[in-house]
Amino acid sequence: MDASAQNPIAKETAARLVLDWYERNARGLAWRSPPGSPPPDAYRVWLSEVMLQQTTTAAVTPYFERFTARWPRVEDLAAAADSEVMAAWAGLGYYARARNLLACARVVAARGSDFPRTEAELRALPGLGAYTAAAVAAIAFGQRAVVVDGNVERVVARLFAVAKPMPGAKRTLRELTDTITPQERAGDFAQGMMDIGAGICTPRNPRCEVCPLAEPCRARAEGNPACLPVKAARTPRPERKGRAWWITRTGTGGREVLLVRRPSRGLLGGMAALPDDGWNARRDGDGAPPLAGPWSSCGSVSHVFTHFSLALEVMLYSGASSPNLGALDGAWWPVSRLAEAGLPTLFARASQRALAFGGETD
Ligand code: ADE
Repeated sequence: MDASAQNPIAKETAARLVLDWYERNARGLAWRSPPGSPPPDAYRVWLSEVMLQQTTTAAVTPYFERFTARWPRVEDLAAAADSEVMAAWAGLGYYARARNLLACARVVAARGSDFPRTEAELRALPGLGAYTAAAVAAIAFGQRAVVVDGNVERVVARLFAVAKPMPGAKRTLRELTDTITPQERAGDFAQGMMDIGAGICTPRNPRCEVCPLAEPCRARAEGNPACLPVKAARTPRPERKGRAWWITRTGTGGREVLLVRRPSRGLLGGMAALPDDGWNARRDGDGAPPLAGPWSSCGSVSHVFTHFSLALEVMLYSGASSPNLGALDGAWWPVSRLAEAGLPTLFARASQRALAFGGETD
C-alpha cells in the first residue's frame, strides 16, 4: 500500500515548513553552505557524510577541519599513505569507514577527481550505502533524493504517528519521507529534517512548542511523540574478555612501547594498537602472554562495541630491559609521543591505564 494513503500530509506543506524553518535556523556547520546558496564541493559533502555516520556533529567537526586542512582535495586524500589516514581517523570509531574512505578517494581520483552526480552511480563507490549516496546526491548536486538517517526516521515516525516497531518500520518511514521530499532543494530539506531531529524532535522530551512541523504532526496530536519510534527489544550485548600487553624498553627516543598494526580486515582493522591476546567479537582472548614475564595487571578498561562489550585487562611487562620479542611483530614508539601514534580510543585508554600504573618508568 502507498504509505501516504493512510496519512495524507500534503507534501508541499511539510516541505515548505521545513525549508522555511531551515532558512532561519540552519546550524552553521563546517561542511555546509548557507541555505539556498550554491552547494559545497562534493568532496567536502562526501567526507562529512562518511564521518557523520554513527557519529555526532560535535565529534566530527574537529576531524573534518583537520582532514580538509591536510587533504584539501579528493586527490590529496587519495595520495595519502593508509597509515596516515588511519592515524588521523583514530578516535572517530567504526574504522571500516576510514578504509572505505581511502578506497573511495582513490576510485574518484582515478576518474579525474570528479564525483559521479547520480544516486545510483554514487551508490556504486566503495563505502557509500543508500544513505550516503542519497545525502551526497541531494546536498552536493541538488538531486531529488530521499535522505533518511536516524534523526529523519524519528521526525517522520512522529509526523505520521507510525507505531510499527523498528527496525521493521524502516521501509515505511522511507516511503513516507519520499512523500514529503520536495523536487527542488532536496539537500536543504534533508538537512532541515536532520536539524529538527537533532535539536527539536529529540528522542526524549521533544520541544514540540518550537517545532515547525507541530501543526501537521500526528504524534503530537495524539499526545505521545516521545514514545515514537517504537524500539524493538534490545538483545543483550555479550561480554568479552581480553588482555593487552604493555611492553617497553629504553630506546634512542627514551622510553618506548611496542605497538603493532592490526590486520586490515576485522575489528579496528588497519589501526595501530597494543599487542593483545586475540580477543574478538565472538570469543575471549586466550590470555597467554607473548613473552615470559614477569607481568603485572594494571586492571581493566571497558569498551562498548556495536555487538559486544569488552573488558580489556592491561598487563605490564617488567622483565628484561631489552626484551627478545620472538614472534611479536611490532615497532617501538616513544611513550612521550603516544598521542601521535594514532591509537583508537580503546588502546589509547589502555595505554593511559598502563602509564597510570607506572608503565613509563624503568
Ligand atoms: N548528520 C548527517 N549528515 C548531516 C548533515 N549534513 N548535517 C547535520 N547532521 C548530519
